[in-house]
Amino acid sequence: MTARPKIQVEVVSRSFGDSGNRVLALKDINLTVREGEFVSIVGPSGCGKSTLLYMLGGFVAPTSGRLLADGQPIVAPGIDRGIVFQEYALFPWLTVFDNIAYGLEMTGVPAAKRQQAVEHYISLIGLKGFEQRYPRELSGGMKQRVALARTFAYEPSILLLDEPFGALDSLTRETMQDELRRLWATTGKTILMVTHDVDEAVYLSNRVCVMSQRPGRVVEEFAIDLDRDGPREDVVLSDAYTATHNAVWLSVRRQVSNPPAPAS
Ligand SMILES: Nc1ncnc2c1ncn2[C@@H]1O[C@H](COP(=O)(O)OP(=O)(O)OP(=O)(O)O)[C@@H](O)[C@H]1O
Ligand SMILES: [Mg+2]
Repeated sequence: MTARPKIQVEVVSRSFGDSGNRVLALKDINLTVREGEFVSIVGPSGCGKSTLLYMLGGFVAPTSGRLLADGQPIVAPGIDRGIVFQEYALFPWLTVFDNIAYGLEMTGVPAAKRQQAVEHYISLIGLKGFEQRYPRELSGGMKQRVALARTFAYEPSILLLDEPFGALDSLTRETMQDELRRLWATTGKTILMVTHDVDEAVYLSNRVCVMSQRPGRVVEEFAIDLDRDGPREDVVLSDAYTATHNAVWLSVRRQVSNPPAPAS
């Protein structure tokens, strides 16, 4: 049985600016993500990937077309959609602990369970001892880890991730990727992730969508069918992984080599 659509993007366009310096970021983009799918979006810088996630998050409205979550039009941010921004947005007035606890509080998780979940995530992201620090006291990678923990901890049914591991060193990146994989495998969340990293997209997702240069649209899709039960090295050293990776990488290269549309 095919799962029901969780996210629907229907003929969506979005432009910025006014006549004279108008930029058409996205043009007539269509995308359906079904319940429990993990979809990655890769594409050239500036093609509208973040804009698409902001629209799904309810932070930016489309110029035309419509976006739905669970069949309902998206008009504002909602607790059902957890977003990790490209530039880790933490609440500067809250400590690390309270930033991570925030979503749990919003969803009514009782204090004892909240404490447990926050402690679990603090230790997972390697920030034990930093519970009472404020975001201004953290490095970029530390802030990004807190932003990830904050979103993972309250387990929204849809996760929108904009280059969530971009600022991390490679070992922390792998730990967080595996945590995301575990979260997805055990909770059946619907995940839409933007990434520049073809390896990351192929390693984690069921489907990779390749976007064109601006104005961005989905030009190619790859279904990823890998046996992911084993450890990371077994997955990434398999022939199936290499073949899929190369196909996606070539597709992205074809897009990057086209020039984007000029601003009008
Ligand atoms: N608030 C804004 N005001 C004006 N132009 C914007 C705004 N947000 C995005 N744009 C423009 O829309 C286009 C798409 O931007 P977006 O940030 O969505 O790209 P992206 O694919 O996420 O790029 P990157 O991979 O570099 O993060 C760009 O040309 C950008 O200049
Ligand atoms: Mg972006």
